[in-house]
Order: sequence, then structure tokens, then C-alpha cells
Amino acid sequence: MNRKTIVAILCFFLVSLLAASAMASGHGHSTDHAKADEKGPAILLVTFGTSIPEAQTAFDNIDAQVKKVFPGVEVRWAYTSYIIRQKLAKEGKTWDSPEVALAKLMDDGYTKVAVQSLHMIPGFEFHDIYVNAKMFERMSGGFDKVFVSYPMLSSDAAMNKVVEILPGAMVPKERTPEDAVVLMGHGTHHTSDAIYSAMMYKFQNADPNIYVGTVEGHPTYDDVKAMLLEKGVKKAYLIPLMSVAGDHARNDLAGDEADSWKSMLTQAGIECVPVMKGLAESDALVDLWIENLQTAMKHLQ
Ligand code: CO
Repeated sequence: MNRKTIVAILCFFLVSLLAASAMASGHGHSTDHAKADEKGPAILLVTFGTSIPEAQTAFDNIDAQVKKVFPGVEVRWAYTSYIIRQKLAKEGKTWDSPEVALAKLMDDGYTKVAVQSLHMIPGFEFHDIYVNAKMFERMSGGFDKVFVSYPMLSSDAAMNKVVEILPGAMVPKERTPEDAVVLMGHGTHHTSDAIYSAMMYKFQNADPNIYVGTVEGHPTYDDVKAMLLEKGVKKAYLIPLMSVAGDHARNDLAGDEADSWKSMLTQAGIECVPVMKGLAESDALVDLWIENLQTAMKHLQ
């Protein structure tokens, strides 16, 4: 045998050895899991995030409510927004991305995870979470089961519940039927933007003086403004259709800048009363996310 042949044979053995050890660790993972299974499924709550401390209290409310419904279950959080995470990191507050949070749960020995999207609609963020979380199920040594459950406005029944609950939960008691309620959703160029138009339709059917607009999608501000003027509305309550009253609520909706909805509607002769509350501050609305989470936990039993 010349030297080349010996090197080739050695290489062959080395590759076989690596392949064998990879297979062995693959088999080994079920025994690892037997131990970790005692921990039960963990919950990962995923939101866009907020850098506004007052808005964070709305997330604290969700946290408390989830822990009450699922006592003893490990509950962790992740922020999808890179910009928000970077901003908070500069203030010394560390928030994980969904991927990092899942990796940590995996390292801590959890084998099942319920991932609850705390978004309003199943848009880009939800689909990114879904795809990436499911990859943690496929990787070697990954989770046995990952269930990603839907955001708040994900079915006709859920939308009807929001239409039913929101006015009582978010609109100030002194509002009269002549006063309009303008809800500001985020909006997106994802297909699920259509949900906001569906919500406008449903709210209009329930109360013709409740309107839904969006910052970045449809219905637009102009759509809402035209409807308000046509109806001769004199006063409007402006409320975010978002989990928290964060940056969009403070600036795009109720800011003092000339291009906020408050400024533009005031300019159009409508008295504006902004309500700086996020939907996550209402226990009844948080329950809608929790119902989805309960479905997820059932799938993990
Ligand atoms: Co935005």
C-alpha cells in the first residue's frame, strides 16, 4: 500500500466514525428526553415588543393572566422586533428573539413548547415565528413538539368576540352614540391586512359609528376620514387596535405633530379624545389569546 491509499483508508474510517457517533447521539436524545419530560410543556409568549415602559405594563398583565391560567408552567417572552431589542439593550434590558428564546428552552431540557403569538393578525411576524419555531422541532436533539398558536384576530368567531368585547373594555363610558370611535390598527402589505377591512365591516354592522383604520395598510386614514365627514361626526374617541399603546398610538394616533390622526381630524373640525390604552390591558381581550394558548397546550398533552 502506498501512502495515498493509507490516507484514503484512514479518511474512510474517520468519516464512518463521525457518522456512527452522529447516529448514536440521535438515538441518545430519546433517553435525554425521558428525564426532561417531567418538566412538562413550556410557554413562549411572542410579541412585537415595546420600548415604552407604560406599554410594558400591558405585557405584564398578559404575563400575570397566563401564569394564573397555567400555574407552575414555565412562561417566557420573546420580542420579534430587532430595533426594539437593540434599543432596550442600550438601556440594559435584555429581551430574546423567538429563536434565541427557543434555543434557551431547548438547552434547559424542555421537549414541548407552546408558542403564543401576541400579535393582532397572522401577518409576516406570525409566519416567521411559525416557520422558525417548527424548525426547532426538526433539528436533531430539538423539541418533540412545538405548537404555534394564532394571534387574536384569526377566525370569524374571534373577530366577532372582539367586536362584542372591545367597546365595553376600551371605550370611555361617557361616549354617546353620536360620538364616533376610531380604532387604529397597524396594517401591513401582507395578505392578512384584509382582516382590518373585515373588522370595519363587523364593527359597522354592530355600531355604525365605530370605524377601523390602519397606519400602514387598509382601510386607510383617508377612508376613515371620508366616512366621518359624510356622517357629520363632531367628536371621536381615538383608540389603538393594538396590543399596547406604544409608539404608533403615541405618535401616529395621538401625537401633537401635524400628521397625527388627532391633529388631522381636529383640523377637519372633529373634536378628538385619544384613549391611550392597549388591548392587552383588558383581561377579557387577553382571554382571547389565552383561549388559543389553551388549544396549543391541549395539543401538547
Ligand atoms: Co409599526
